Amino acid sequence: MTERPTRPQWAQPATDLDGKTVLVIGGAGGVGEGVVRSLLDVGARVVATGRSRERLDDLAARTADPRLAVATLDALGSDLDTRAADLIERHGALDAVVVSVASWGEQGRKPALSLSDREWDDLIAANLTAVFRLYRAFLPRLAGGGALVQLNGMSAEIPFPGAAGRALTAAAQKSLTRTIAAEIGDDGPRVYGVILGMVRTRARQLAGVDDEQWILAADVGRHVAELVAGTSPLSRDDLHYFVDATAGPHQNPM
Ligand SMILES: NC(=O)c1ccc[n+]([C@@H]2O[C@H](COP(=O)([O-])OP(=O)(O)OC[C@H]3O[C@@H](n4cnc5c(N)ncnc54)[C@H](OP(=O)(O)O)[C@@H]3O)[C@@H](O)[C@H]2O)c1
Repeated sequence: MTERPTRPQWAQPATDLDGKTVLVIGGAGGVGEGVVRSLLDVGARVVATGRSRERLDDLAARTADPRLAVATLDALGSDLDTRAADLIERHGALDAVVVSVASWGEQGRKPALSLSDREWDDLIAANLTAVFRLYRAFLPRLAGGGALVQLNGMSAEIPFPGAAGRALTAAAQKSLTRTIAAEIGDDGPRVYGVILGMVRTRARQLAGVDDEQWILAADVGRHVAELVAGTSPLSRDDLHYFVDATAGPHQNPM
């Protein structure tokens, strides 16, 4: 994956997660891998999860860092609650959880009114119910002063022709995340939604799809690390936009 050689101008110098444990759900995904690497870079222990054991093992082999553990976990599985408890028993209290899950579904790009009932239900389950179930399983288990960061896309804000399921669930994810942040207030973990523009991921680069204007997955990870550490100037806001690689994260889409 393309790495930025120096710290971006917006990044904070003193972010240190030494001794902290962060769970990255979807850690073997395109954005998730950048987040995992940036968290390791600032000293965190990281547990990366996904459904595919093969993708997780590949991530562990590429990363080759003893502070990274991997485990399978299906957000839609009937055993989610037990698996969440098992993870904490095995790896200790979680200081933060990053939710970086997404699914395009099997139908490919299709106009909204062409979706079958089954495709509609699957898209909502994979992109909205999954996020809700992860919040319900993990937020009550976060260490005091902990943080949950949910990664989302600009389709939460703008039309996305051919991808209605992604767009409407992104908008609903934003609503859910902000509502839960408001319900918790100052009485529990900090909850953040981060809405991303196009991200430069390893998978895209392997497929020959890249653009220097896009955000590096590692820079998404820097912002996540700063939120977890509380060093980001945006740490008090529940909603952030990161759509411009140079400007970095902001309160508004710009
Ligand atoms: N890539 C971009 O340019 C971009 C832009 C804006 C926003 N984002 C946001 O970034 C986040 C991650 O996207 P991505 O591009 O990294 O996607 P991705 O490469 O497809 O990765 C998605 C990850 O989610 C996991 N996942 C999916 N369903 C799951 C479930 N039911 N239970 C557990 N894990 C599940 C997948 O695990 P498996 O390994 O089992 O498949 C995979 O690791 C999404 O919220 C997306 O909206 C991405």
